[in-house]
Amino acid sequence: MSTIRPLDLSHLLLQSILSEKDWAIDATVGRGYDTSFLCHLLPKGRLFAFDIQKDALDQAKDRVKNVSTTIDWIEDSHANFSSYLAPYEGQIAAIVYNLGYLPGGDKAITTTVASTLESVAQGLHLLRSGGLMTIMVYPGHPEGAREKDALISYCRTLSQDKVDVYCYQALNQMNQPAFLLALQKK
Ligand SMILES: C[S@@+](CC[C@H](N)C(=O)[O-])C[C@H]1O[C@@H](n2cnc3c(N)ncnc32)[C@H](O)[C@@H]1O
Repeated sequence: MSTIRPLDLSHLLLQSILSEKDWAIDATVGRGYDTSFLCHLLPKGRLFAFDIQKDALDQAKDRVKNVSTTIDWIEDSHANFSSYLAPYEGQIAAIVYNLGYLPGGDKAITTTVASTLESVAQGLHLLRSGGLMTIMVYPGHPEGAREKDALISYCRTLSQDKVDVYCYQALNQMNQPAFLLALQKK
């Protein structure tokens, strides 16, 4: 059996809660690997796909050109979820973040503490009861290290009556390994 890495676990969790007609958000589309994974779980569902980079969205569109999921491509920051999704508050089954910069792309274009925290707060309102938010965090670069600290501090403030927060992290690896935060709304 191969190791279950944090990204693998996020996919296993999403697989366990999503049904084919559900609605979900890919908050950081990038090259569309998560987008593609979500579309296969939601053949009759709807996916809101956010990225601030047109190039990333174009690559992702190409990756999912044969899927049946309804996809709303949104070239904007996930900090602006509410502008697009306020009418759907409480209806979203899952929100997926893969933070940081596009691998092989411009490392200066990265998720940031301010926009990530704003987005997560808005996202928790959008999730339905039992809905899941997965956040892959990459603390091996400077803004990622700041996101790690800010997200952990923020998650500790969330009431356990409203949301369960879990962290899946290697404790015996060097070089600030990536880790998963999983938030499930009650
Ligand atoms: C690590 S990559 C995502 C990888 C992607 N999930 C995949 O499967 O290929 C991070 C992405 O987040 C995007 N991004 C950065 N800041 C953002 C923001 N405020 N809102 C939405 N996307 C953002 C970047 O443009 C980049 O494409």
